[in-house]
Amino acid sequence: MALLNWNSSYRIGIAALDREHCRLFDLINNFHYAFTLNRDRRDILKLLNDLVGYAEEHFQHEEAIMTERGYSRLQYHREIHAGLFETLFSLQTKLERGTIGMEMETIAFLRTWLTDHIAEEDRALGKFLAEPS
Ligand SMILES: [Fe+2]
Repeated sequence: MALLNWNSSYRIGIAALDREHCRLFDLINNFHYAFTLNRDRRDILKLLNDLVGYAEEHFQHEEAIMTERGYSRLQYHREIHAGLFETLFSLQTKLERGTIGMEMETIAFLRTWLTDHIAEEDRALGKFLAEPS
């Protein structure tokens, strides 16, 4: 079963960002699935690399939109992205070194890092972007 299921409650109302979030769900699920099936480490690392790479791209895209629209919470939102990225990056490092298992902490992080972020900061951003500029 997929770790995350996309549904309309995750929609923030900005089509391009919703599509990117949906893609992040897929990438998290792909990685989680390979990990739980204990697939070849190189395959698992490749899937995590895909996730880390796409997360970076997505955060940059969101930040570019926030900059362009003069979003007042840009700095705060950017710091949250940096924190999330750092955690993802440290997961990648641990996996490369073989010092991590699929313990509860890892699963909990994968399950919540994106959904919590969407529910809080990205939803607030969606609301702001929907207002006439
Ligand atoms: Fe965000």
